[in-house]
Amino acid sequence: ANKTFTMIKPDAVQDNYIGGITQMIEEGGFRVVALKKTRLTPERAGKFYEVHKERPFYNDLVNYMSSGPIVAMILEKDNAVADFRKLIGATNPAQAEEGTIRKKYAKSVEANAVHGSDSDENAQIEGDFFFGEDERF
Ligand code: GTP
Ligand code: MG
Repeated sequence: ANKTFTMIKPDAVQDNYIGGITQMIEEGGFRVVALKKTRLTPERAGKFYEVHKERPFYNDLVNYMSSGPIVAMILEKDNAVADFRKLIGATNPAQAEEGTIRKKYAKSVEANAVHGSDSDENAQIEGDFFFGEDERF
């Protein structure tokens, strides 16, 4: 489908990279359908990452994602989910290709600057987690 969901994670917001990352997103051919700066409580971060709750890094991830404000966006482009994951690069920035957002802005496998949905189904669920119908244009 043509939509995906992203968050600029707390490390990148703290480091003043909202503009740089959003510019790479727009230059990558994505349109911003919805956008907000907000902060996840630990409870909401835990719910967002519920699929990872059996992973060893789950508690660290929840603490990190609730440690400061994030910027949430719904993005539109043909083949949005796959093309956006290509634009952000590998989870671990040490493995991210040149020209990707994580290569440029990520600090570590955890503090990796951005989230990108991994399927059309999750893009829908994640967008609905943050945005009402009246916040999408
Ligand atoms: P997202 O777009 O954020 O979902 O990243 P991803 O799909 O590339 O990775 P995945 O869904 O497997 O993991 C979700 C998030 O958990 C990652 O983006 C990291 O922030 C964090 N994470 C993944 N692996 C590790 C790890 O080994 N250690 C720690 N501390 N965090 C991890
Ligand atoms: Mg993921």
